[in-house]
Amino acid sequence: MDYLTLAIATGRTSKQAMKLLEKAGLNFPDYHNKSRKLVIYDETKTVKLIFVKTADLTTYVEKGAADIGVIGKDTIMEVQPDVYELVDLNLGKCQVVVAGFPTQKMQNGAPLTVATKYPLITKAFFDKKGIRVETIKLNGSIELAPLIGLSEVIVDIVETGTTLRENGLVVLDKIVDISARLIVNKASFATKTNLVEQFITKVKAGLELWF
Ligand code: PRP
Repeated sequence: MDYLTLAIATGRTSKQAMKLLEKAGLNFPDYHNKSRKLVIYDETKTVKLIFVKTADLTTYVEKGAADIGVIGKDTIMEVQPDVYELVDLNLGKCQVVVAGFPTQKMQNGAPLTVATKYPLITKAFFDKKGIRVETIKLNGSIELAPLIGLSEVIVDIVETGTTLRENGLVVLDKIVDISARLIVNKASFATKTNLVEQFITKVKAGLELWF
């Protein structure tokens, strides 16, 4: 029987994504919080679920190793993968912001140094504002950069605000609201249309039950 491969990112949204699948009537008997399994099937064997790193997820979907993926809008904006973005899942809501010390000025003649996981989003935002920046690409613990003088500000996601607060940083400007999206491989959408549509219908029903 034909099945869909669904990629979910390990990390902060994976639990919410699993809850949504349950609400959509898709049960994965081998799934539990502490499991280290990377591939599991739903009980009807129509969905094969794979767990991948956030930074790799769009690659899996774009290349067709996964038919469908759940990924944040921030990653979609940064990577700009050649996939269809079909459903806003309303999960993993957060914001991409510019943050720094409360006294930090955005313009003082020299280029503003910005540490971020999101160089493209950063460039687009500051270009629009006419502010020159020097971007420093980091992969995590972004808030550390201004604390140790690696950069003046950061561009990063804020969810609860706890990380900023505990490190004496504040939001200086908001760039965009973010939530998780369902993305689909273009060829899969053409060749597995029925399966993809059935899956999306179930997910939308799950969302209605949840919200
Ligand atoms: C993200 C982000 C912030 C933090 C924001 O990091 O980069 O550091 O979460 O969340 P909060 O507003 O609820 O505190 P993540 O936990 O993904 O880890 P990372 O530092 O490895 O990127």
